[in-house]
Amino acid sequence: MRLENKVALVTGGGRGIGKQIALTLAQEGANIVIWDVNLQEAEKACLEIQTLGRKTLSTQVDVTNYNQVEEAINKILDKFTKVDILVNNAGITKDNLLLRMSQQDWDAVLGVNLKGTFNCIRAVSRVMIKQRSGKIVNIASIIGIIGNAGQANYSASKAGIIALTKTAAKELASRSINVNAIAPGFIQTDMTAKLTEEVKEKMLAAIPLAKMGSPSDVANVCLFLASKEADYITGQTIVVDGGMVMV
Ligand code: NAI
Repeated sequence: MRLENKVALVTGGGRGIGKQIALTLAQEGANIVIWDVNLQEAEKACLEIQTLGRKTLSTQVDVTNYNQVEEAINKILDKFTKVDILVNNAGITKDNLLLRMSQQDWDAVLGVNLKGTFNCIRAVSRVMIKQRSGKIVNIASIIGIIGNAGQANYSASKAGIIALTKTAAKELASRSINVNAIAPGFIQTDMTAKLTEEVKEKMLAAIPLAKMGSPSDVANVCLFLASKEADYITGQTIVVDGGMVMV
């Protein structure tokens, strides 16, 4: 068990990649906190995690709302007294070509993906600084590295996460807090299920390993970055994309 007695907080952990990350960390011994706008999904995921013998806490949190984030941290401290691992996974898309992209869709995506990540890092790092330890993993995207037509808001938010990861890593390193990012490629979840067959075929043709990734592919890297084995890694973005982007 690589994470015995650790407390891991996963945002947007009610479904998809976040849920798989929560399950994978729990399988290695971590107690799990899930924050999600969808409380029902968060509670369902927590019930599944409890069957592994772990303790859980699910809270309805919109990560764009700093007050909600602060209140929810207090709930974690009441129940578990600490936070060892933060996974910033909550994310949304609202795609459109630049000229058709509304102010609302720009603000919404930047709000959840980038400001939400900032809010959670800000609130949780205060706890981790006192503990003098912690692991933060931010879920970015290869689109934040290579861009994508129709995703101006999303690509900017994910590039922002990569830069925020580097700055937070530098600011928090002296307190033994590691901050890294994962840039997944094309992963099979509800988010990608809504893409048209044509878009999916084009994406698949660009993947050297010729298949979509699974949430577990991302979760396994997250487990590594959250574990002791990654103690000497910080400020990095690990690409998990079947070979699409080679840097
Ligand atoms: P998903 O849409 O299946 O799950 C996202 C979760 O975040 C949902 O449970 C949702 O309720 C929650 N959420 C949304 N807004 C929230 C908010 N304001 N506060 C709290 N929770 C909120 O998405 P998926 O595919 O599992 O993606 C997870 C992360 O991985 C996202 O950050 C996404 O951008 C990233 N990603 C996904 C890829 C894919 O191919 N599926 C590729 C690259 C990155």
